[in-house]
Amino acid sequence: MRHLMSPLDFSVEELDRILDLANDIERHPDKYAHACAGKKLATLFYEPSTRTRLSHEAAMLNLGGSVLGFSSADSSSAAKGESVSDTIRMVSCYADICAMRHPKEGAPMVACKHSSIPVINAGDGGHQHPTQTLTDLLTIRSLKGRLDHLKIGLCGDLKFGRTVHSLIHALVRYEGIEFVLISPEELRLPDYIREDVLEKNNVPYKEVVRLEEALPSLDLLYMTRVQKERFFNEEDYVRMKDFYILDAKKMQLAPQDMLVLHPLPRVNEISVEVDKDPRAVYFKQVQYGVYVRMALILTLLEINVES
Ligand code: CP
Repeated sequence: MRHLMSPLDFSVEELDRILDLANDIERHPDKYAHACAGKKLATLFYEPSTRTRLSHEAAMLNLGGSVLGFSSADSSSAAKGESVSDTIRMVSCYADICAMRHPKEGAPMVACKHSSIPVINAGDGGHQHPTQTLTDLLTIRSLKGRLDHLKIGLCGDLKFGRTVHSLIHALVRYEGIEFVLISPEELRLPDYIREDVLEKNNVPYKEVVRLEEALPSLDLLYMTRVQKERFFNEEDYVRMKDFYILDAKKMQLAPQDMLVLHPLPRVNEISVEVDKDPRAVYFKQVQYGVYVRMALILTLLEINVES
């Protein structure tokens, strides 16, 4: 039985197969409409979510399966003190697969050690968000045609942004990847990722504070919001929250084929006027998230659909 804790749980070849399957699901959704008939997905969300929870649920429903779960710790017995390990033992009796989001780094890893069903890490604290990475990889490969030889600007809260951490881990395995890390000093990428992932893999990167400096040379710009929920005090958050605002004027500095991605939710970091720019693909990214989670569920449940 396999779980998904980090994008590195799949080899590059396995990831390619998942992305190929997601593209096939996009082209032929009817073929997969009953693939998970009789199967149940549990969504165990101890932290708020719109996209990740609903897209997992939409994915299972699109596959003909059913869903159950909770959307906050307060509405589960976690509020009475039940542990993650006990919870997953219960859920293993109710469902065939589960997706878990938790504010504590490593909680889904604890769950998978006590689980008899596949566990998907749907975001653990400031650590990893592997299904967002699958979504990002599918979006990039589908719209850029490749996952190698790309110069990628990562902008915003690189300290707490788990989507960025997961994406870096996944992309360093492809040839010719270069990063521009765009953040204020206080929200720089943690040393353990800069040193243990980028430098160890000899991946070229540079750190800049000004978005305008980076924009003209990028193939992709990955915007992120400042993670309010991970700040220790409101004052620091308020000082940082509008540090970057991508607007139509700044987009004029970017190449005509540069794509703008964002895991969402957006707060102020992308002005709504950018939404109509054809280079802004963050809402298409949301749709790719459903296809790739369908492919992930099929893969973890080892369900093959004949072509
Ligand atoms: N991208 C993402 O994780 O969004 P949610 O927090 O709404 O799930």
